[in-house]
Amino acid sequence: MAISVAPGRPLTSPYPDTEPDTGPGHHPLAPPGRSCLGPATVPVSATLAVNEVMDARRTRGEPVLPMGFGEAGLPAHPLLREALSRAAGRTSYGPVAGEAALLEAAAGYWSRRDLPTDPDAVVAGPGSKALLFGLTEAIGGDVAVTRPSWVSYAAQASLARRVAHFVPGAGGVPDASELARTVNEAKAAGRTIRSVIVTLPDNPTGTLASAAAVRALGAVADKHDLVIISDEIYRDLLHDDDTVHPSPALLYPERTVVTTGVSKNFALGGWRLGVTRLPDGWLGRELRARLLGIGSEIWSSPAAPVQQAAAIAFDEPPVLAQRVALSRRLHGSVARAVAHRFSAAGARVPAPQAAFYVYPDFSPLAGVLLRRHGITSDVGLAGLLLREYGVGVLPGSAFGEAPGWLRLRVATALLYGDTEDQRITALGAADPCSLSWIAASLDRLEEVLADLTGKRLARQGPDRGGTGAPPEGGRRRGVGGPPTRTAAHDPLRADPGQPKRRSAGTEPCASYCRNMPDRRSVRGLLIRDL
Ligand SMILES: Cc1ncc(COP(=O)(O)O)c(C=O)c1O
Repeated sequence: MAISVAPGRPLTSPYPDTEPDTGPGHHPLAPPGRSCLGPATVPVSATLAVNEVMDARRTRGEPVLPMGFGEAGLPAHPLLREALSRAAGRTSYGPVAGEAALLEAAAGYWSRRDLPTDPDAVVAGPGSKALLFGLTEAIGGDVAVTRPSWVSYAAQASLARRVAHFVPGAGGVPDASELARTVNEAKAAGRTIRSVIVTLPDNPTGTLASAAAVRALGAVADKHDLVIISDEIYRDLLHDDDTVHPSPALLYPERTVVTTGVSKNFALGGWRLGVTRLPDGWLGRELRARLLGIGSEIWSSPAAPVQQAAAIAFDEPPVLAQRVALSRRLHGSVARAVAHRFSAAGARVPAPQAAFYVYPDFSPLAGVLLRRHGITSDVGLAGLLLREYGVGVLPGSAFGEAPGWLRLRVATALLYGDTEDQRITALGAADPCSLSWIAASLDRLEEVLADLTGKRLARQGPDRGGTGAPPEGGRRRGVGGPPTRTAAHDPLRADPGQPKRRSAGTEPCASYCRNMPDRRSVRGLLIRDL
């Protein structure tokens, strides 16, 4: 079946600007309430907003568990830092698509993953986020996204005056029959869905869809002539080396666009560099021309010095491959330990398979949360955790879920340490969860969850005091308020001289680490290699 993209002309906005632009009080300098601006399209990204609140609390000296922001939480490798500083003198803009060395390196990166790639099929941009936005624009029409899926897909669609249709799915891939139904319903309502975005592996759930789910989705995409955008930014962070990555570009190469970047695998989010792999044939050529048009008007070209460093990263010399293997091990250990804390507290938690995300579902605790805190929504739960405990997480509704489902997206990589030294130590540790600062965060999380749910902590040593359960039916504060945090039960404030105890009943993190699939590939590494 022929693949189509929308004609290259502006679409009519589904959100017509309904604000009056004339009338009494309207003036470019009008006071609030009679603004000279049109309606706002999107608020600050939920994930960045939580990060800012966390920073403010930290500045005030208040304890925090920063688990809202999906950052890789690790320092740049020295090889990449040196490459970046060596290239600082490169001040020219360069080609819109990116410099040849970068495009060749990215093509090699994909070719090593069974996706033979011509450098001409690669377009680089200032982060894959910008490229994803450019692709939405370039393809045109509405977009189908998984429920739940990364916050920015739907927000970007709205920014582009398009509609994101949420389709229930798992592991970042919409259910195929639900997708077919959604496409047909949209058509009946006069809207055309032209693309579907999949996230492999997935943010927010930290899981990976099966090859069967990807195959079924591709069949629907074939039937309905949809472009598949496969966001593979977490591909290198699958915890188990033996997991086969089910890229739709393997099965449906003629209609799949892949995006990735250096933000997660190489932990260079702030350097802002992403790449996209376009399909062969007419579709790829047309998308390339459109994407370059968009890029030329928005970002001109990716930052030249960053491109030089990213070319080295995508070449994957052994020392960088080892670094990624170590980060995979660390992400897996801490994500599993955090997942365990949530499931021990009574939440339902899918086993994390990739990256640094945990996705607990508090619906088994809905009655407790209502009784103790008057909580009925994920936003209420995330707000309570932030306000009262300094725990930053995102509500599942930021990812398209129903607020009443009480799901949270928990990002674990900012627990690796406050300093570069701590993070490097965590990276090299066989048992990172036993490092005092990570153990303190895990203990703190356990205590917060015990307080939240009124469960007695298994740990009851003389040094811990033990929060225990409050009297039956009682809370230590008025309706809606959780117990007050005190230094006595706050390990982030407690006397550092006191010996730390592991919780009885919690999993020994060391056993996770012993079972890490990639331990052979990282054996013998020196700290300075990290
Ligand atoms: C699923 C997903 N895609 C894309 C991005 C953005 O990546 P980049 O830093 O390359 O813009 C993120 C960042 O959080 C993400 O989680």
